[in-house]
Amino acid sequence: MYSEKVMDHFTNPRNVGEIENASGVGTVGNAKCGDIMRIYLDIDDDGIIKDVKFKTFGCGAAVATSSMATELVKGKNVQQALEVTNKAVMEALDGLPPVKVHCSLLAEEAIHAALWDYAQKKGIKIEGLEKPPQDIAEIVEEEDY
Ligand code: FES
Repeated sequence: MYSEKVMDHFTNPRNVGEIENASGVGTVGNAKCGDIMRIYLDIDDDGIIKDVKFKTFGCGAAVATSSMATELVKGKNVQQALEVTNKAVMEALDGLPPVKVHCSLLAEEAIHAALWDYAQKKGIKIEGLEKPPQDIAEIVEEEDY
């Protein structure tokens, strides 16, 4: 049911933890399944993501997608990080079962929330970034469950 990559990132998740005085912190949840994800970003003066950590209180697919998402945004600039969509994360994991697609959205939105927090703190606007919802159940289609 799960790819080897999903199992690998679930059993051995990368970048678990938190960053003190992070440049941006984003937390999103999904009221329908009750899962919550928090992403911490350490962004330097050039807008490069130097470090990223996550904490996920959620299902295995949510852990695996957070782990892969953090790997994909590390070293990128904020604009490139915005392009790390849930589809990109799923592709990097060799796919997810259809009922678990919404879990990958949690990772995308948590990154957006952390970028939003960073932009708010810096008083800047990141092109293409809209304020993410705190509860992604609002934007997930019924059929994704
Ligand atoms: Fe909620 Fe996977 S079931 S994030």
